[in-house]
Amino acid sequence: MIRIAIFASGSGSNAENAVTTFRNSPTLEVGLVATNRAEAGVVERMKRLGLPVKVIANNVWEEDPQSILALLEENRIDMIVLAGFLRRIHPSIVDRYERRIINIHPSLLPAFGGKGMWGMNVHRAVSEAGVAETGATVHYVSNVIDGGEIIDRETVAITPGEDPESIAAKVHEAEMILYPRAIAAVASAIAKDSLT
Ligand code: GRF
Repeated sequence: MIRIAIFASGSGSNAENAVTTFRNSPTLEVGLVATNRAEAGVVERMKRLGLPVKVIANNVWEEDPQSILALLEENRIDMIVLAGFLRRIHPSIVDRYERRIINIHPSLLPAFGGKGMWGMNVHRAVSEAGVAETGATVHYVSNVIDGGEIIDRETVAITPGEDPESIAAKVHEAEMILYPRAIAAVASAIAKDSLT
């Protein structure tokens, strides 16, 4: 059984989708959900699903990665899924969980990624650029923002002049398909790896 931790800072729709998709999985289980924001929507969503959310203050994420590593160990976590998590993952955690931390980004990386490119900022930039398609990307987390190796992507077509809100809705739908697929693929690679 691969045990995943989900880290989220926002509404938590990707976190909820992962929890419900894998609820009865024989190979994958959610062992921990953590946030840096007690008021984040993800807390309420998980409450409805009967899952506790560990609230960890911003300074801990930045200054005390050892306590986060200890928590991951305590919960026997094999893999970390970032689902709208807006804090940097400390390099010592990235090192310890090499190729075991993944993130979803709401564009076709490397386009519209990097510093400041999150939430509606991404979809506004996409709309202004007048590109014909956008989408979502799942990638491994490295020490470069949005820079880790790409695992999988979903593409959506944009109609000329489409507004950021409408683009965001399409990308959100694509994320609901993409993230469970990528989570399952990475979990299965980790499971195979630990057999060898
Ligand atoms: C998603 O668009 C994801 O791509 C990005 O943050 C957003 C999280 O949304 N990293 P939600 O909190 O899962 O609803």
